[in-house]
This record gives sequence, C-alpha cells and structure tokens, in this order.
Amino acid sequence: MTETIFSKDILKDKVAFITGGGTGITGGVARAFAEHGANLAITSRKEENLSAMKKAVEAFGGECFTVSADVRDYAAVENAIAKTVEHYGKIDIVVNGAAGNFLCSADQLSANGFGTVVDIDTKGTFNVCRAAFEELKKSKGQILNISATLHYLATPMQIHVSAAKAGVDAITRNLSVEWGRYGIRVNGIAPGPIEDTEGMKRLLPEQFKEMIVKKIPLRRFGRIADIENAALFLTSDAASYVNGVTLVVDGGQWLLGTSLA
Ligand code: HXC
Repeated sequence: MTETIFSKDILKDKVAFITGGGTGITGGVARAFAEHGANLAITSRKEENLSAMKKAVEAFGGECFTVSADVRDYAAVENAIAKTVEHYGKIDIVVNGAAGNFLCSADQLSANGFGTVVDIDTKGTFNVCRAAFEELKKSKGQILNISATLHYLATPMQIHVSAAKAGVDAITRNLSVEWGRYGIRVNGIAPGPIEDTEGMKRLLPEQFKEMIVKKIPLRRFGRIADIENAALFLTSDAASYVNGVTLVVDGGQWLLGTSLA
C-alpha cells in the first residue's frame, strides 16, 4: 500500500492501460494507480503475472482488466487496446513499462539480442502509443514512459538497454511536441537503482550494494514507492502543464557516474 501522500481519489474514474504492469516497478505503479481511484487494464506476455496482479487489486476493491499481448506485435497491441475500450469505454492514461533486460558485453551480444531489447522497449513503446492515439485524443489523455538513466553516461554490459531507453526518451520528447496540440501530455520517469526489482538483482550483485549506496548522494537505494509517487504526480492534474519531461528519480545517482555494472 502506497503511503497516503496524495488524495486517494486523485485518479478517480481514469482508465489506465499499462504494459508490463504485472510485476516490478510498473506493477507497483499499476497498484498505486488503482489505490488512487484508477481502473486498470494491464497487459503482459505472461498470463500468470496478469492474474496475480488482478487478484491483488481486486482484494482491495479495485478494478483490473487483463489482456495478454506482446508489445512487439502491433496487431496484438491493437487488440489489447480495442478490448480495453470495449470493457471500459475509454483510455485516459497509457503507461509503457514492458521491458527486457540482461547483462551482456557488447562483444558477446548477438544482433538478435540487441534487437530483441530494442524491439521490446523502443518499438513496443511506439506501438502502444500509436495504437492508443485515437483514444487518447478523445480523452485528452496522457502517456508515461518508464525509462532509465543507463544511457546518460555509459553503462557496461548494457549497450542494448541503453540504446533502447535512449530511443524511449526520444519518443517521449517527439510525441509531447506532436500530440500536445490534442491535449495529450507525454512524460517519462527514469528510475535509478530501485531496491527489490528484477533489474537491480541482475545489475547489482549483493556484495557491491554497500559500496554503491555510499556513492548515491541521498545514501539510500530507491524504493518502488518512490517511482509510484512520481508516477502519481505526473499523471495527475498537479502536473497539467508538464509535458515532454523524463523525470529522474534516482537520489542524484547518475550525476556522480556511479556505474552499476
Ligand atoms: C546474452 C541473451 C541473453 C543473455 C537472451 N539473449 N538472453 N544474450 N545474454 N543473458 C539473446 C538470445 O540469445 C537471443 O539472441 C535474443 O537475445 C532473444 O532471446 P529470446 O530468449 O529468444 O527472447 P525472448 O524470449 O523474447 O526474451 C526477451 C529477453 C528476456 C529480453 C531476452 O530476458 C525477457 O523477456 N526478460 C523478461 C523481462 C525483463 O527482463 N524485465 C526486466 C526489465 S528490467 P540469438 O542471437 O541467440 O537468437 C529493466 C530495467 C533497466 O528494463 C534499468 C535497470 C537499472
């Protein structure tokens, strides 16, 4: 349960379509949205991730519609959007959280490995934004893209994710400029090292944690709740003039260039 910083009805009656919303950071954002009044439509490749989140949200009286889709497959994304509109009648918020990641040095990475992550993160983000456009135009809705800070400097073993997330940031800026005229806001969040996530477990072995935390200006790792709160702010009316921004939520970590890999 998110700490009650925001009014519990901040997203009341909004419909949020969330990719990768079954687990991790985006799963936290999805749950926080439901706790603040939003009706969820979550999509993931894995059916088991969807049913667990549906159960968790319904346990506190929230609404959670699920539809499985691979964001790399445009037809599947279009179908997921159509099913959501059929179910709720509209879409107000899109969150692009589906992502792929593994550690691999550039000289070992295959072309398909590089392309797979770019396809999930970058092309997947475009696919969902494009397929949701007409609905977002109707609702004067908004998009929130989950990015990273890996590409601000350079992160070894992460060339594929760095390139993919740089593309996501470009999508955020371009769409904010092109779709602002329809009242659609497009923003992003770049989480830093967030504890208890799959990404952190893979990037940062336990024995390096103590050393790394000393190099984070705020002297702590992030929590999923930190990203939830940033997402609630950006998608609420409190941010109604914020457009084209990728908000870094990392305790100041990237400014010191503390490589996690
Ligand atoms: C090298 C690898 C690899 C690895 C896969 N590949 N894993 N190469 N090291 N560990 C290569 C494969 O060999 C293959 O290339 C290509 O990638 C596609 O692999 P598949 O397994 O066929 O792909 P797929 O089943 O679509 O799986 C996608 C995946 C997978 C990205 C590879 O890891 C995945 O879906 N993971 C779940 C999502 C996830 O990890 N989420 C966490 C995101 S965390 P070849 O050439 O052999 O065909 C995140 C945070 C970032 O994004 C920021 C952190 C701070």
